[in-house]
Order: sequence, then C-alpha cells, then structure tokens
Amino acid sequence: MNALMCHAFGPISRLRLESAPDPVPGPGQVVVRVRACSLNFPDALIVQGLYQVKPALPFSPGAEFAGVVEIVGEGVRHPRVGDAVVAFAGHGGLAERCVVDAVRLLPLPAGMDFAQGAAFLLTYGTALHALRGVAGVREGQTLLVLGAAGGVGLAAVEVGKALGARVLAAASSAARLELAQRHGADAGIDYSTQDLRRRVLELTDGRGADVVLDPVGGSYAESALRATAWRGSYLVVGFAAGEIPRLPLNLVLLQERRVLGVYWGEALQRDPQAHLRDVEQLVTWFSEGRLRPPVTERVGLDGALDALQRMAARQVMGKVVVEV
Ligand SMILES: NC(=O)c1ccc[n+]([C@@H]2O[C@H](COP(=O)([O-])OP(=O)(O)OC[C@H]3O[C@@H](n4cnc5c(N)ncnc54)[C@H](OP(=O)(O)O)[C@@H]3O)[C@@H](O)[C@H]2O)c1
Repeated sequence: MNALMCHAFGPISRLRLESAPDPVPGPGQVVVRVRACSLNFPDALIVQGLYQVKPALPFSPGAEFAGVVEIVGEGVRHPRVGDAVVAFAGHGGLAERCVVDAVRLLPLPAGMDFAQGAAFLLTYGTALHALRGVAGVREGQTLLVLGAAGGVGLAAVEVGKALGARVLAAASSAARLELAQRHGADAGIDYSTQDLRRRVLELTDGRGADVVLDPVGGSYAESALRATAWRGSYLVVGFAAGEIPRLPLNLVLLQERRVLGVYWGEALQRDPQAHLRDVEQLVTWFSEGRLRPPVTERVGLDGALDALQRMAARQVMGKVVVEV
C-alpha cells in the first residue's frame, strides 16, 4: 500500500510517500481502508518528536480518519467487514490502510461523509470535553476562543454556541475572523492588530470573558489570562505558537481565576463513559445542523506533506482533509 512514512523524528520535510507493507490485525484489531484523514496540529508535532506520544519507528502520521472496515481480527464482534467507521487512532491514517484497536472506532454518523467524519472526533471531542467537562460552560456565559479559525478553535466556537455561550473569536486576520463568524462567533478580535485584553473588556462591559479556550499559547497567553473575568476559567489546550508560556500567578490570585489543563486523549482513556456521552451529544448536534465540520481544503496523499508543512507554518484555516 502507499503510505506517508516517518523513519526518524525530525523535520516534516523528511516524510516520504512510499510503498509500505499491508497491515495485519492482531486480536481485537481491525484493518480500515482509509478514505479520508484530516490533519491536526499534533500530526505535525508527532513526526518532529515534539509530541508527548512517540510511536515506534517507522510509522505514518494521521491521528484521525474515516473509512471502511476491510479485515477484522480475532475476537472482534463490532464493527463488521464493510462498515463505515470513524477512528481516533493517534497515528497511521495517512496511508491506504490502517490497523487500529476496534474499541477506537465508531460508526460513521448518519448524514456525514468520509471527509466530515475524518474532521470530527478530535477537534469537537476536545472542544466539548474542555468547555463542558472541564470548565462547565453555562448558558449566557461569555467564551473567548483563541486561534478561532483553526481546527480546535472552530470546533470550540460551534460547541460554545451549542452550549448557549456568547462567543468572542480571536484570530490573526480578517479572513480568519470571517470564517469563525460564519461558524457562529458573535464577535471577532484580530489579535495581530488589536490589543486582545482591551477588546475583550470593551466587548464585555469591563467584566472579561467567563471562559477562555487557548490552543495557541505563546505571547497571547498572558493577555488572554488578563482578559479572563473574576473567577473565570482559562483553559490551557495547546501551544500552536510554539512557545510554552510562563504566567505570573498574581494574575490568578487577584481575580480568583482558575487555570485548567485539558488533555482530551488522556481523559477519554481514563473516563470512557464520559467520552461516549460527549460523542452522543456531538452526533446529536451534528444531526441538528449545529455542528458543521469545516473542511476547507481537500488534497490527495501526495499533497499531505505540503499541507502538514503549511499547517505547521500557520498557513491553513479550518480543516485540511487528505482523501486517500
Ligand atoms: N489539549 C488537548 O487535548 C488537545 C487536543 C487537540 C489539539 N490540541 C492542541 O491544540 C492546538 C491547536 O491544534 P489544531 O489542530 O486546532 O491546530 P490548527 O488547526 O493549526 O490551529 C492552530 C491555530 O493556532 C494559531 N497559531 C498561532 N501561532 C501559530 C504558529 N506559529 N503556527 C501555527 N499556528 C499558529 C493559528 O491561528 P491564528 O493565525 O489565527 O493565530 C492557527 O489557526 C495544538 O497545539 C494542538 O497540539 C490539544
């Protein structure tokens, strides 16, 4: 089969599209014929050896994908050969076939095509876990989302609206803010030209945002924490800007703010029941038209390397989907 392979942790440019052996399922595993694999920022980190999980070499990146079950291993009752599924496998999706534990698969939700299915679980799962599970967002609260035109950011905009929040989107260009507003954001802040804290205070009558979801970090983190309301929550989701920020704790003390970590991949293993409840909620919202996976670009497997490089260089919006 064809696969985009990583033979050594290092620059993304070293990935190679090449012929790799077809995978064979072990007990409890299935082989999925991949139809679509979306790109997530962790895919770019994992091949560089910068992610908390380091797969055995060589491997294909591609954490989440959708496809059709081709072979089932010993002891697998669900799914069956021919079933359309979505998977969060961690890696392996940028290939024609991927072997994955059956428990990591879900049926492709009704009304969802393979591209949307590949762009669903990770970002919306992270957003709902962060906003409902970790921060307990309530109707009427104000939510500030950084990187609001990125994968996790756009999902957080839609999930925030579905939870009844007023959503302020922050991003680095007018085009990005327009995309976030098309996905439901109530107002936009261009943090490349505007003072983030000042704009949030202006938009909230001086109160600040009740909840801040930050997948970007870097130099925006301190302004975002300063824009968090009295007893508000600042969610640490990721560091797409590259730099892991250090925050002065007096900012936490003075406003009784809460700084909360979010680690979806670990949380779903520790509490699979909560994860299933989240997935059911997300599928319901999708069927009601409240979630619209933002597939902004489709490329083939031969375009995946270039797209991963553009994602790492802040040059994509929404979700890039690799159709295999
Ligand atoms: N904690 C968890 O459970 C969890 C789960 C999934 C993902 N994550 C993390 O969340 C972050 C976002 O992931 P994603 O898949 O949503 O990524 P993405 O689609 O690439 O979005 C990231 C956003 O970050 C902003 N950004 C600022 N500086 C950047 C830079 N130097 N390079 C790239 N982007 C930059 C960009 O928006 P602007 O240009 O508008 O600033 C971009 O849209 C990543 O750090 C990822 O590892 C965490």
